Amino acid sequence: MVELIKTGINELDDLLSGGVPRGSSVLLSGSCGTGKTILAEHFLFYGAKEADEIGIYISLSEPRDKIIANLEPFSFYDPKLVEEDKIKILDITQDARLINLEPLTVNGIINMISSIIRDSEAQRVCVDSITAICNSLGSEKNIREFIFELGLQLGYLDCTTLFISEIPPMSLQYSVYGVEEFIADGVIMLREHEDKGELIRTLQVVKMRGVAHSRNKQILQITKDGIVLKPMFEL
Ligand SMILES: Nc1ncnc2c1ncn2[C@@H]1O[C@H](COP(=O)(O)OP(=O)(O)OP(=O)(O)O)[C@@H](O)[C@H]1O
Ligand SMILES: [Mg+2]
Repeated sequence: MVELIKTGINELDDLLSGGVPRGSSVLLSGSCGTGKTILAEHFLFYGAKEADEIGIYISLSEPRDKIIANLEPFSFYDPKLVEEDKIKILDITQDARLINLEPLTVNGIINMISSIIRDSEAQRVCVDSITAICNSLGSEKNIREFIFELGLQLGYLDCTTLFISEIPPMSLQYSVYGVEEFIADGVIMLREHEDKGELIRTLQVVKMRGVAHSRNKQILQITKDGIVLKPMFEL
């Protein structure tokens, strides 16, 4: 029996018939501003507050102070959880820049991420973004090996992970390299859709291994209570 853990985004948990399988790695894909970071933060803070699960947010794209400042308007944000190390926000942009000066090896980066997670004892993880790491790995073979190995290692650590994938706007692909989605256990796609001059955000669960889930497209709203979804079309 697969154990499902709630993301804390009620409508997403309903689409997933309960939540995400524990220990799975999920690709959260979307272009800029589609809500990837806020969705991942909502997932981590819910886990820490309601499920007593330590969360770690590994940033390769934004500095820690900015991430915290952007969290302040949201009701799910609780600075105490950060003070108590129930939520760790780790900015490895500096480290990433440093290691980019050296030839980056798949094993090197996997060991670095796995040891960060092991030391933090996290059960929920977000890597923002996997695209930033893939960009520095070069060949498709390296990228495939990296994602496969990382998913495996995180599975051993019993972590449920959101890998953020950055794609160009209006892209039909789920990832830049086209391999990430095959290796991840799940794919959640955030898109934008222009209607009467307004950019509407949407979410769709593309796949989730082990779960009988809905693939119904949802309108995604960013509110003070985090992510809220409603069906785009009534069935
Ligand atoms: N407090 C807020 N209330 C409502 N909407 C907000 C709030 N803060 C930010 N937003 C909206 O959310 C968007 C950013 O969301 P988020 O950072 O999750 O996107 P992202 O997909 O991670 O983008 P990127 O690819 O640039 O990292 C902003 O562009 C803004 O439209
Ligand atoms: Mg982001």
